[in-house]
Amino acid sequence: MANAMITGWGKCMPEAVLSNHDLEQIVDTSDEWITTRTGIKERRISHAEVSDMSAVAGAHALAAAGKTAADLDLIIVGTCTGDSLIPSTASLVQAKLEAWQAGAFDVNAACSGFIYSLVIGSNMIAAGTHRTVLVIGAEKLHYHLDFTNRATAVLFGDGAGAVVLEATDEDVGLLASELGMDGSAASILCIPEHGTSGDRRNPDPRESGINMDGPEVFRRAVTTMGDASVRVLEKAGISLDDIGLLIPHQANVRIIDATARRLKLDPAKVMINIESYGNTSAATIPVALTEALESHRIEPGAIIVLAAFGAGLSWGAAVIRWGQRVEPLGTSAAALPPNNRSTMDLLAPNLEFFGHLASS
Ligand code: ACO
Repeated sequence: MANAMITGWGKCMPEAVLSNHDLEQIVDTSDEWITTRTGIKERRISHAEVSDMSAVAGAHALAAAGKTAADLDLIIVGTCTGDSLIPSTASLVQAKLEAWQAGAFDVNAACSGFIYSLVIGSNMIAAGTHRTVLVIGAEKLHYHLDFTNRATAVLFGDGAGAVVLEATDEDVGLLASELGMDGSAASILCIPEHGTSGDRRNPDPRESGINMDGPEVFRRAVTTMGDASVRVLEKAGISLDDIGLLIPHQANVRIIDATARRLKLDPAKVMINIESYGNTSAATIPVALTEALESHRIEPGAIIVLAAFGAGLSWGAAVIRWGQRVEPLGTSAAALPPNNRSTMDLLAPNLEFFGHLASS
């Protein structure tokens, strides 16, 4: 049975920055509140679509793996904010990369989407049906954000990350995983009225943005991420002392700290970049993984633990043994089309839409 080794990694973070101070101008909040309650200082706002960010992150991951798009036999995009309902975002990415030999599909497990996608891709390699898989986590969350609602407006951002998985006989890759869900808690984090549950007869059918019971999500996130991480380590027969790096979903630095405490981990073994990007949902883990490699925080052969939770309520955890190579084989010049609009210009349609809702 083949193992699935991560051989390439990459990210695409749009240039436009929305800082906490910018948010103070839009909604009743403060840099001090956001920083102390979440750890976030700024986030990115995309002028391009999810498929554009995905294709750029994918091109970087392919270059790092020394592969071309023609080598891919599968593309999986973890996203809950895709370009359209149909076709899938993965279909658009396949065309943008010209990966004509690859099948492609999306996975919606919200913020757990990258771990779900990574587990699916790894298991398809293990099953022998695929050999080179591009796994992407990408989101354009700002599109769905009601910037008149301070409870959610400050938390989320846009971006994409990607990895290439390749079949290998080496004893590396996914050692154990858990994909979990508690559908009974679906309503505590949702974007309602954006599918068939909406009322088409309503003369003004409008989505209401992200609805969230923050404290309840927080409480469940701490339990599920910590417990699932412990269980996957037990399944893999790996002791807590052997963890090289924990790469958790970046939703709130206090949730990350609680997960690290549950694993009794030295903070130096926890990857945190939430201050720069906020919660980019399915993109947080592949982006953090890429930045961990860029900053030489992953040793050859290291044990990496990934853990996430998200709408559903979904959760996922995975233990990976890294290969020997921690440097990219190549680089790519892929980039988003130039953006000539200010961050506030990019937010204008959104502010108008949700501002109209608030005043109607
Ligand atoms: N700025 C200023 N004050 C605020 C803000 C804000 N942005 N948001 C809330 N407050 C106020 C509240 O109104 C409340 O005021 P009150 O005491 O006068 O009523 C006070 O701050 C405390 O509010 P809480 O909601 O209790 O604050 P809490 O410490 O729980 O932090 C937060 C809120 C940051 C949302 C936290 O609960 C959290 O991170 N939850 C998890 C959210 C999450 O991770 N969601 C993403 C899931 S992943 C996915 O699938 C998309």
